[in-house]
Amino acid sequence: MTGNEIRRKFLDYFEQHGHKVVHSSPVYPPNDPTILFTNAGMNQFKDVFLGNEKRDYKRAASSQKCIRAGGKHNDLDEVGKTARHQTFFEMLGNFSFGDYFKEDAINFAWDFLVNELKLDVNRLWFTVFAGDDEVSADEEAIQLWIKAGAKPERILRFGRKDNFWQMAETGPCGPNSEINYYLGDEPENPEKNRADLVNADEGDTTMEIWNLVFMQYNRVETEKGIYKLEPLPAPSVDTGAGLERMTVVMEGVHSTFETTLLKPIVEFTARLAQRN
Ligand code: ALA
Repeated sequence: MTGNEIRRKFLDYFEQHGHKVVHSSPVYPPNDPTILFTNAGMNQFKDVFLGNEKRDYKRAASSQKCIRAGGKHNDLDEVGKTARHQTFFEMLGNFSFGDYFKEDAINFAWDFLVNELKLDVNRLWFTVFAGDDEVSADEEAIQLWIKAGAKPERILRFGRKDNFWQMAETGPCGPNSEINYYLGDEPENPEKNRADLVNADEGDTTMEIWNLVFMQYNRVETEKGIYKLEPLPAPSVDTGAGLERMTVVMEGVHSTFETTLLKPIVEFTARLAQRN
């Protein structure tokens, strides 16, 4: 399945499940001084999560053009070193604005990846927020993943760096739960397909492919440099799945630059530079 087919399948799946498919917003956010570039699918819905704006739908899905080259989510230092980071990418996302919450978000992710894309469950790892002095551990997500079909030993706990998501220093945020995929050759071998490869600083053997953010808070600055969490009007869902990474998985290649999405651009540039 090519990158274009995955994008179509994702949007069709969520449309069939009651989501309004919306266009990507511009990569330069017109009205948000907290970010320089659009860094996630949820940016265009920020005011909907905060309760400052109403739309005529409570579920949405999109393929958002993102740039992560500066600000809170800055991948610039990784680009060219890993097989999975890009400055520009497309983020597939499904969103709930006070409609469904954790259980449906987890079930949609499982159903799409396991039943629709037919990913090998044996290659999947799940992470949840381990809790800290501000927000408690997400034991509920663990139980919901098990109910969906995950093996308990494949569910790992991580701290704020990996499993608490916010778009900028202020704004909507919440604990998140990620799905990681083992790309190696020996999924059955526990010495190769290992827990310590999940969220590892180096290496692309196991990479994050899907992030579910359980949006519950707005982080506000009360005095200069002092922040606090306030509850959102309603628990909501923000997800993000890197289209190029999903395409790596589905096309069986080893780098986003080898996918049908990016390879033609790499080849065209190589021809121009007479390096083909
Ligand atoms: N907004 C979340 C992310 O960017 C889904 O990972």
